[in-house]
Amino acid sequence: MYETIALVGATGAVGRIVLDQIVSRKLPYKRLKLLASERSVGKEVRVGDQTIKVELLEPDAFKNVDLVIGSTPDEVAAEFAPWAVAAGAVVVDESGFWRMDAKVPLVIPEVNPDAVDHHSGIIASPNCSTTQMVVALAPLHKAARVKRVIVSTYQATSGAGLAGNEELRDSIRDSLAGKTHPPKTFAHPIAFNLIPQIGSEKQDGYTSEEMKMVYETRKILGDDDIQVCPTCVRVPVLIGHSESILVETERPLTVMEATELFRGADGVTVVDDLAAKQYPMPLDCDGKDDVFVGRIRHDISGSGGIAFWCVSDNLRKGAATNAVQIAELLMRKAAAV
Ligand SMILES: NC(=O)c1ccc[n+]([C@@H]2O[C@H](COP(=O)([O-])OP(=O)(O)OC[C@H]3O[C@@H](n4cnc5c(N)ncnc54)[C@H](OP(=O)(O)O)[C@@H]3O)[C@@H](O)[C@H]2O)c1
Repeated sequence: MYETIALVGATGAVGRIVLDQIVSRKLPYKRLKLLASERSVGKEVRVGDQTIKVELLEPDAFKNVDLVIGSTPDEVAAEFAPWAVAAGAVVVDESGFWRMDAKVPLVIPEVNPDAVDHHSGIIASPNCSTTQMVVALAPLHKAARVKRVIVSTYQATSGAGLAGNEELRDSIRDSLAGKTHPPKTFAHPIAFNLIPQIGSEKQDGYTSEEMKMVYETRKILGDDDIQVCPTCVRVPVLIGHSESILVETERPLTVMEATELFRGADGVTVVDDLAAKQYPMPLDCDGKDDVFVGRIRHDISGSGGIAFWCVSDNLRKGAATNAVQIAELLMRKAAAV
């Protein structure tokens, strides 16, 4: 049973939405503990009709905790997850640190829910740009086997946490006032600009964010033959990642068939009427939990593939919603035993 939940990183961009989801989805917990760094200790946070004080993340913080949701930087997750597991808790972690560990299931509840059964104390939630793409690809993969994906992302500044959004706002304000705003979170000015680098240089000219899309997609869909060519770009949008995706399947799909597969998939909403100017956009997806798909069309360059546009709130399905859904799944399975 999972009666006591701890949220590590409760004060961050994702942590705040996790709290919102815990309340709105009525997660059946008895006690909730909020943990963060010493910068936040003692801060009071409203959670539904309760006010909870933030406590310090330290090795003893997980005594009597059953379930942990972690929304911290990688290096913090690397340190605290073993403390929590040693104290007997199960950890659902949103950082990148544990995702590719062979003993750690990487789970999207709509796609590979049974993977949670094989954990050794830690379950990882995928990277935001991977999650929305894989939620959309999963029904096509099931029906026709995905062979190759070419994806360009247009990623919101909140993907870099609260600091990312602060930098976008400050940089736009200063830019409009004719002042320069030295970038801190991003490598270049983000106001009125696009930055074709997310993460560090990783391999063959691809960044760490791009390689996450390659490896995490294969792990979640359980198919190491899937080829992914990603280009990840930071854009001056506060919330909502967008992706232009071209997918080739072993059995070619028609546009109508692909559209029906998207329509029938859990967690996917199709918004696709070009004549009526209807397609998913970040401003419309902000605050929503689904993955939105539109501009579905065949590849006129002749690959036989399907091109489409995919948008999702990176703080929700890309992070908090997915983690809370994993927690719900664990709770449902524990209650069924
Ligand atoms: N943002 C997204 O779209 C997104 C999507 C998917 C996954 N993720 C992942 O989710 C994690 C959190 O991202 P975020 O965007 O919420 O970042 P954020 O806004 O910077 O929040 C980071 C959180 O971690 C806490 N923290 C930092 N250092 C700590 C330490 N030494 N000890 C204890 N707590 C510490 C912070 O607490 P203080 O307030 O006390 O500093 C804060 O609560 C990251 O691993 C990120 O890669 C983010």
